[in-house]
Amino acid sequence: MAGEIEIKVKKSADVKGGTVIVLKAKDATATAATPDIAPAEVLERAEKVADFKASRLSTCVILAPHGSPADKLIVLGMGETASLTENDWLNAGGATAATFGKAAEVTVFVDMPDAAPDAAMLAQFVLGMRLRAYTFDRYKVATKKGEDESADPSKVKVTVVAAASADAKKALAAADAVGDGVLLARDLVNEPANVLGPLEFADHAVALGKLGVTVEVLTEKDMKKLGMGALLAVAQGSVRPPRLVVMQWQGAKSGDQPVAFIGKGVVFDSGGISIKPASGMDEMKGDMGGAAAVTGLMHALAARKAKVNAIGIIGLVENMPDGNAYRPGDVVTSMSGQTIEVLNTDAEGRLVLSDALHYCNDRFKPKLMINLATLTGAIGVALGPHHAGLFCNDDSLAAALTGAGLKTQEKLWRMPLGKDYDKMIDSKIADMKNTGGRQAGAITAAQFLKRFVGSTPWAHLDIASTAMGAPSSEVNHSWGSGFGVRLLNAFVADNHEG
Ligand code: BES
Ligand code: MN
Ligand code: ZN
Repeated sequence: MAGEIEIKVKKSADVKGGTVIVLKAKDATATAATPDIAPAEVLERAEKVADFKASRLSTCVILAPHGSPADKLIVLGMGETASLTENDWLNAGGATAATFGKAAEVTVFVDMPDAAPDAAMLAQFVLGMRLRAYTFDRYKVATKKGEDESADPSKVKVTVVAAASADAKKALAAADAVGDGVLLARDLVNEPANVLGPLEFADHAVALGKLGVTVEVLTEKDMKKLGMGALLAVAQGSVRPPRLVVMQWQGAKSGDQPVAFIGKGVVFDSGGISIKPASGMDEMKGDMGGAAAVTGLMHALAARKAKVNAIGIIGLVENMPDGNAYRPGDVVTSMSGQTIEVLNTDAEGRLVLSDALHYCNDRFKPKLMINLATLTGAIGVALGPHHAGLFCNDDSLAAALTGAGLKTQEKLWRMPLGKDYDKMIDSKIADMKNTGGRQAGAITAAQFLKRFVGSTPWAHLDIASTAMGAPSSEVNHSWGSGFGVRLLNAFVADNHEG
C-alpha cells in the first residue's frame, strides 16, 4: 500500500530534536513565528553563507543550529507570497517531503508572517507531502532487509504546525480522501499484471463498497447477453476472463442525472496477434491507467462525500496472443450494433471502450461522459508527457476540463476532431476499422470512440504518456502517477456539486 507517512496537524509542537522545517517568504523580513526553534541570527548567517534568497522551493539546510532544540533546521523558500496558488502549496508540500531524508520525526511550521495559508492551501500542502512520500516497494523484500528503516522517507512522523480551524479540518479530510484516491490509482498502475488481472482489479473496485459506493461486476456471461462483441473479442485470447465493473456513487438527489467516468482497463497489453516488440512491453502492465484513475476518483468522491451523482465504469481485459485470440481481419459486432473490422489487434483499447461507453450511455443516460485511456503512443509523440490529450464534442465541457487541468497541474491540451479524420476509419467491409493508419493516430482513435457516444457531451482523455513513466515532479516520483484523479476531482468539485 501507500507510503507510511503519519501526518498530524497541530496548533503547536514541543520540539525536542529531529528535523524542523520552516517556510520563508521572499517578501517578508522575519521567517516563522518560532524564534526559539529557528533563531533569527542563526538563519540570517546560514542564509547569507548559502546565498539563500527564499526563491520558491529552494532550501537552506542548517545542521545542529546554535541555540535551537532542532538537530536539523531546513528553511524552505516560498518565493513571493502574494501570488501563491493552491498548486504552489501542493508543490511546497512535495518539496518539503523531499527534504525528509533519514529523519524519523519532522516538525513543519507552516506559518509565515502575513502569509498564512488558508484552509484549502494548507490541505494542498499536506496532500503534496503525502503524494511525494509515496513509494511502491512491496516487492522489495530481501533487498530491503538490513537497510536502515528510518532511511525510508515514507515512514516519517510529521507534525505540521498550523492554525487548525474547523475549516482546515474539513479541507484536510477532503484532501486526505483525494490523496487516498491518487495513491490507490498509483498502486493499481504499479502492480504487475501477474498479480493484478481483471478479477483482482475488480476486487479493488468492490472494496469501495465500504465507502458507500454501489458496485456491480459483470461477467463474461453477462457481457455476452448484452452483446459486447468488441470488448469480448479483445478478452478471448487470455486465460483470464474479463470483467466490466459499474460503480455508483449517489451524493446528490436521486433524480439528478449522473456524471459518468469510463476507464480503459487492459491489465496487460501484449498487442495480441499483432504483437508488440519486446522492448518496453513490460510497461503495458500499466495499460489500465484509465481504469485506475476512475477507481481512484470514485474512491475520492465517496470518501469526501461529494455532493454529486457519479458513475464509474471500467472495462477489464487482458490482450494476449493465443490459439483462441482474435485476429487481424476479424469483424466483430459491438453492443451498439455497429460492426468493426479489426486491422490490428493492438488497437484494442478502443474496442473495450466502445462497449463500455455505449453501455454507460444506454443504461444511465448521464449528463456527460468522460473516458480516460492509455490509448495511443501517438499522443506522446504529439504532446510528450506534459499534457494529456483532450478530445471533446462540447466546448463548455472542454473549457471546464482544461480549467481543472490548469488548477491541478494535470494539464490537458485540446486536440481536433472532425469529418476528415472520421473518414479515415471507414472500412471497406464493415461500419468502421479499428485503426486509421500511421497519421493522426491519437485523433483517429478518438474519432472511433466518438462513434459510440451519441449526442451526449463527452470527453476522451488520452493519458498514455501521463499515467505512467512521466518525468518526476514535485509531487510524484512514482512510475504510475495516478494522473486524472486530482484533475477530475477538481472538475467535479468546481462544476458539478451543490
Ligand atoms: N496501450 C497502447 C498505447 C500505449 C502505447 C500506451 C505506449 C502507453 C504507452 C495501445 O493499445 C496501442 O497499442 N496503441 C497502438 C495503436 C495502433 C496499433 C493503431 C499504438 O499507439 O501504437
Ligand atoms: Mn494495444
Ligand atoms: Zn493498449
